[in-house]
Amino acid sequence: MNYNKKSIEDIDVSGKRVLCRCDFNVPTKNGVITSDKRIVAAMPTIRYLVDHNAKVILCSHMGKPKGEWKPELSLKIVAKRISELLGKEVIMAADVAGEDAKAKAAQLQDGDVMLLENTRFEKGETKNDPELSKALASLADIFVNDAFGTAHRAHSSTAGVADYLPAVSGFLVQKEVSIMGKALTNPERPFVAVLGGAKVSDKLNVINNLLEKVDTLIIGGGMAYTFLAAKGYAVGKSLLDESKIDYCKEMMAKAEAKGVKLLLPVDVVVADTFPDPIDGPIEVSTVDADAIPADKEGLDIGEKSCALFASAVKDAKTVVWNGPMGVFENPTLAKGTIAMAQALADSSATTIVGGGDSAAACEQLGFADKITHISTGGGASLEFLEGLELPGIACLEDK
Ligand code: 3PG
Repeated sequence: MNYNKKSIEDIDVSGKRVLCRCDFNVPTKNGVITSDKRIVAAMPTIRYLVDHNAKVILCSHMGKPKGEWKPELSLKIVAKRISELLGKEVIMAADVAGEDAKAKAAQLQDGDVMLLENTRFEKGETKNDPELSKALASLADIFVNDAFGTAHRAHSSTAGVADYLPAVSGFLVQKEVSIMGKALTNPERPFVAVLGGAKVSDKLNVINNLLEKVDTLIIGGGMAYTFLAAKGYAVGKSLLDESKIDYCKEMMAKAEAKGVKLLLPVDVVVADTFPDPIDGPIEVSTVDADAIPADKEGLDIGEKSCALFASAVKDAKTVVWNGPMGVFENPTLAKGTIAMAQALADSSATTIVGGGDSAAACEQLGFADKITHISTGGGASLEFLEGLELPGIACLEDK
């Protein structure tokens, strides 16, 4: 995939109606935004467009309303937050590309900002319906995609609209693509990838693709137990994806053939059962990875594994991390994830954390400002690491 895409700096936006797709799919509780990280991440592009006298028409999805009008998924709360951050009014449309959006878009003055309603209130959005794409395009002169978190979706507002308008990237997409793109195409070596998370099956293609590129692949988290089983170890009651044992064997053979160091946990923290509630008290012990008792479940990596993984990260020049090392929501089982976050924070390498749980862990644990780049994408950054073409980026004009 060509990552060298035109950006808003390569096109004249002054006086133009600019439809800017952002990822405002932010977490909320009782109608209140609990993390505005994605909104803050879109602000450089929004500010640039305002400062360069564009008529700014923002759009995004939130949640999965599946073509239904769901008031609890209205973007009104997002308009309010952008308005606070921008220090100016954000005009809220009552629909996506209907009469109200059209009328309000037509009345915009240079530097005005409006926000369309949740694009997934329209049935055509997730089907990439050309009629919706055309209706969205008719509101504007230029399309800017700044929604990295949604770039893996081929929807009307993320990709389809680019069939009808000049299409360029915003600063967030540009930053995500250039940092992660460089890591995957031309990394400074040694290049170390750290993968965790629950299931091997979620990361099959990520493992396969990264083995083509890295010098060391570290595997922790729930998915490590299927690899340990593939080595012939008993894993007790730990998470095991039996159907993927052969795949893990294949990946271990591939690593060996390619001279990639594949590091698995050498010790694990075990308990009788998975904690319930997840952050409740739990009694644990640490055992060697080849001595997990039949009645125990592995829930975190042990201290020896932390030291082994940290030393591989210490010598690296590029590190990519996706997925926690254990059940980090529980303080007793967060030590492996904290140790990895600490290792990345201490490293002088370019450190990249793929979104989702590992990004949340870095933020919650206070390491965010010591990481080179924390992606705003969950699924999108995983697909990026898989080497897949992201429709929301592929549709943009090449430089
Ligand atoms: C995300 O949160 O990963 C993006 O906003 C995409 O959302 P989706 O998985 O509902 O398409």
